[in-house]
Amino acid sequence: MTALSAESGQVPQELWSAVEQYLTSRILEDDPVLRTALEASDEAGLPAIQVSPVEGRFLNLVARLLHARSVLEIGTLGGYSAICMARALPPDGKLITLEKEPGYAEVARRNVERAGLATVVEIRVAAASEALARMVADSEGPFDLAFIDADKHSTPHYFDMALRLARPGSVIVVDNVVREGSLIQAEEDDADAQGMRSFLERVAREPRVDATVLQTVGSKGYDGFAFVLVTS
Ligand code: DHB
Ligand code: MG
Repeated sequence: MTALSAESGQVPQELWSAVEQYLTSRILEDDPVLRTALEASDEAGLPAIQVSPVEGRFLNLVARLLHARSVLEIGTLGGYSAICMARALPPDGKLITLEKEPGYAEVARRNVERAGLATVVEIRVAAASEALARMVADSEGPFDLAFIDADKHSTPHYFDMALRLARPGSVIVVDNVVREGSLIQAEEDDADAQGMRSFLERVAREPRVDATVLQTVGSKGYDGFAFVLVTS
């Protein structure tokens, strides 16, 4: 690989990807279950927008730090992040993940089954806003951890609902907050960026949470995630 650096003025995507590959090979053991899940998702034509292996490990570690017994995920895709988080749960734990696309949910169901997590993971095939409204009405939860990674313009609403399904001490992680800097650069008509701005305004006004946003680079480009602790 030719030398790349931020100073060179080149977009260092190649470097970010190479470093991520290095880190993945050094600190993550080979994971046939996740590898097979990715292959199945790819074969089924799902978009390759799942969290990276190092991000998946991060979600797994957060769930373990929290001694989580219940996890809510909004946006299943092929079930990659669900598997990462569900592995942190005890056998009687529960991860509920919401997916609007029946085809994605079917791929995820098979991936979860192959991972041996079919009794822990429940995939609900529904529009997230409807599923969440039902969960609130049914007094489901509280969830120890929520991961929001679905349609970006709905993030403020998903955050509100995740907060209603949380308790003091719960953590809410929100993916794709920064999106190549579109968070501050995109025009008013960019609904996704607008969604993330509204979400952060909502967080800033919300006295029941403390939050940070960490910027990230890697195989998926330049992005960032919000980490929200529910305090009261
Ligand atoms: C997209 C969605 C994601 O959740 C992500 O992590 C990256 C990209 C997308 O819709 O393009
Ligand atoms: Mg994402």
